[in-house]
Amino acid sequence: MASDPVTIWDRRHKTQAGPSSNAWHLVHSSHNAAYFTRFNSFCVHVPLASGGTGGYIADMTNAAQTDAAIAAAAADAAPMPILVAPHAVLRRKTRTVRPEDMADIRRILPSMFSAMYEAPGIGLAAPQVGLGLRFALVDLGEPEAREPIIMINPEILAETETLAAREEGCLSLPNQYAEVTRPEQVRVQWRTVDGEVMEREVDGLLATCMQHEIDHLEGILFVDHLSTLRRNMILRRLAKEQKQKRS
Ligand code: NI
Repeated sequence: MASDPVTIWDRRHKTQAGPSSNAWHLVHSSHNAAYFTRFNSFCVHVPLASGGTGGYIADMTNAAQTDAAIAAAAADAAPMPILVAPHAVLRRKTRTVRPEDMADIRRILPSMFSAMYEAPGIGLAAPQVGLGLRFALVDLGEPEAREPIIMINPEILAETETLAAREEGCLSLPNQYAEVTRPEQVRVQWRTVDGEVMEREVDGLLATCMQHEIDHLEGILFVDHLSTLRRNMILRRLAKEQKQKRS
């Protein structure tokens, strides 16, 4: 029975109470409640089903079932171009992925992995390749030992009050880095490509990376966590460098 992704997908979302420790608190509980009914709110910027993805759809005739197999298909897939700030799509909220989106998403994933690995980067969210859909990739592994995770409809359910500062960069803000302060640990829930619910408590670089990617799905960039002065400085420097690159 577990082989029917749509059935799994439609299973009622379970909310889990946080641990009794004061160190954790649930995040945006109203947001989480609204999340599963928030359909049709946002638009898709590239018409996936109508060939709007151009030449970036890899041959997935033998549909790979695991994240690892999908990521491995990146070797034969053309990398999708990554949008650079201040592209408007990076500022738009994405819409929830529906079961009927999954066939298209599966086809496009190898090209997204290809773009992320080529950059190289450790995370890539759908808006960064022009897609207004709530999914993202992360991979903290080495080229010879990949650790790909595909997060469909990810949500942060809880976070620690303890914060951690870490230097961040972003493929959509090339060559720009800044220290960003975020919750040290988060509990993240997402769907796998097969529609299964995953829930993990993560810390360290993975916690930073997942929070950064989930921010992208809300139209938020890492520079939004900085002071206005610092953010504007980075965005101006990026614009200048991009202009020099074009000329
Ligand atoms: Ni980013």
